Amino acid sequence: MLVLGIETSCDETAVGIVEDRLHLRADVVASQVDLHARFGGVVPEVAARAHLEAVLPTVDRALADAGVTLDDLDGIAVTRGPGLAGALLVGVAAAKGLALAGDVPLLGVNHLRAHLEVAQLEHGDLAGLGAPVVALIVSGGHTSIVALEADGTMRELGATLDDAAGEAFDKIARYLGLGFPGGPAIDRAARDGRPDAHAFPRPMLDEPGYDLSLSGLKTAVVRELDRLDAAGTPVHLPDVAASFQEAIVDVQVRRTLRAAADLDAPTVLLAGGVAANSRLRARFETACAAAGVRLVVPAPRLCTDNGAMVAASGANLLAAGDVADLALEVDPSLPLGPP
Ligand code: KG4
Ligand code: ZN
Repeated sequence: MLVLGIETSCDETAVGIVEDRLHLRADVVASQVDLHARFGGVVPEVAARAHLEAVLPTVDRALADAGVTLDDLDGIAVTRGPGLAGALLVGVAAAKGLALAGDVPLLGVNHLRAHLEVAQLEHGDLAGLGAPVVALIVSGGHTSIVALEADGTMRELGATLDDAAGEAFDKIARYLGLGFPGGPAIDRAARDGRPDAHAFPRPMLDEPGYDLSLSGLKTAVVRELDRLDAAGTPVHLPDVAASFQEAIVDVQVRRTLRAAADLDAPTVLLAGGVAANSRLRARFETACAAAGVRLVVPAPRLCTDNGAMVAASGANLLAAGDVADLALEVDPSLPLGPP
């Protein structure tokens, strides 16, 4: 069973092909990063237009990489939300056209669920990871801690009350003049810095429940830079980057591991673009080992937006008979849960 997946929810035009739900056959990403970098962030109209130009050539490249043709496909999957409305529309329209032309089922994928389900390409079915799995979804638009039950249902345990982790990385990187996208820039800069150079707050660390809050941390970084500036103290950017990153990572690790302990979860799963962060991965490895919990993290390129995750999630929908029709609509604020 071959499923092609199209991802256009934000700034990557990406197409993946997955065979028999678990095997990656192609994974092509046409990034728009350079287009948006000069604006310092993703411009929705620019993104939609770039998707329009890139989507069919990217489909062709993925088919060529997998050595298959449109006729070989058993399904066309596409992200229907959440994401930017115009960007989503381009992907959904392309997928409808291809499904119609190839006479194959159309599959409407939830981007957040796809971030989690991509793990099946490297680790097998999520059901095989034990239950519940406590998953941390950390991306540009979302930060939540989720319990994945044995029957595939997902329950949100907590979420950020303000900024998503990726959003905080991007905003602080812009403030520090490190460019866009900010997460990878801070990750790189932090390698030469001391994580304990600045004592930034860890908001809500000891509060009950599993919600998170990051805007106070962001404000603290801005205030610290203003203070240093006013005092005429030179700023060592790598120290600021490392200390900020450490505070964000600390919060994610502590809140997620608390949930895993409370639920007696055998496995922690990391997902989303921020899960590509080297410090987050390293700290989770240490913490999970100490807690006797298995850690599952996709390869970095499968953490950031990609087409393979859409193909994998679409293949699950196809296997479950959950097929869409040509009336499929985008939903820019689709919540986690329903496909
Ligand atoms: O999952 P994703 O590619 O797109 C969304 O669904 O939002 O996540 C993008 C976010 C951006 O905020 C980006 O700065 C962040 O993931 N990111 C990182 C790293 N790589 C990407 N954040 C921290 N460290 C990284 N290495
Ligand atoms: Zn994403």
